[in-house]
Amino acid sequence: MKVTVKVPATTANLGPGFDCLGMALPIYNTITIEETVLPGTGVEINVFADSDIVEQSSLEHIPLDNNSIVYKAVELLYNMIGQSPAELRINIHSNIPVARGLGSSSSVIVGALFAANELLGRPADELALLSIACEIEGHPDNITPAIVGGLVISSQEDDGSVVYRKLDWPEEWAVTVCIPDFELSTDIARSVLPAEVPMADAVFNAKRLAMFVQAVHTKDSELMKLALQDKLHQPYRMKLVPGLNSIIDNLKHFDNVLGCVLSGAGSSILIISEKNNIEKIRSVVKDSWADQNIKCEIRTLSIENHGAQIITNED
Ligand code: HSE
Repeated sequence: MKVTVKVPATTANLGPGFDCLGMALPIYNTITIEETVLPGTGVEINVFADSDIVEQSSLEHIPLDNNSIVYKAVELLYNMIGQSPAELRINIHSNIPVARGLGSSSSVIVGALFAANELLGRPADELALLSIACEIEGHPDNITPAIVGGLVISSQEDDGSVVYRKLDWPEEWAVTVCIPDFELSTDIARSVLPAEVPMADAVFNAKRLAMFVQAVHTKDSELMKLALQDKLHQPYRMKLVPGLNSIIDNLKHFDNVLGCVLSGAGSSILIISEKNNIEKIRSVVKDSWADQNIKCEIRTLSIENHGAQIITNED
């Protein structure tokens, strides 16, 4: 049996929603799991770059053995039904750039889980898959939209269960993802965060996140401009993303820009704007990064409202 799953990229945090807000984007990895017939061959994992924005070199340091997140995802699912994975070939075709804050690790965890679940006759429902995936990833903000699509607010509770709700993204707002030519690992980007933050900063974010939800709900651009700010992670990560400060500064003069934030843990930058004047926004980012000798790929994207989908299931 052979199952292929398509999983979208995701952007997380969206300014004030550290570790809880995320949104699916129309860039996809596909993950195929095939039962192989040769006994004793174990689990074989292969990764292929399927697009120009995924460098083969960035795939080379991804673990492919039993320490990989893909193996762990499959193993946890098999263990849930009292089995261990064996004789499987897992092929990952990668279009989502690695270590750029676009949910490439979530997409492969989710893809492997969905494919293995299908092979096993669907022992896990959506909530069980969410819990297993978040256990591996450590936070739900990329995993949940990778599974359910759209813009989502989610939380993994103390008992491991995941609670989420989808929000409707206003069609009037454009999402521009600016992907630089340098990687930033989430581990490094999390290592610069403090264990505790000042009460005033926590209150700042609580206010912004409430504003975000209301701004999205009522399509209120002026409120969204206030909402797209953060004091929990971005100030600490600024130094890891050269040019981010000047891009934010240069975009302040644009009335149609609602906000410019880190995508997930970086290194990509996400710009939320109204749909006019996008070319000008793109050239500001390109020029600001060019001043730092950084090349980039910039894409203005629609929101992907579907999460992971099984695209083939062959006996
Ligand atoms: N919320 C996460 C972070 C997203 O900012 O570290 C990256 O996985």
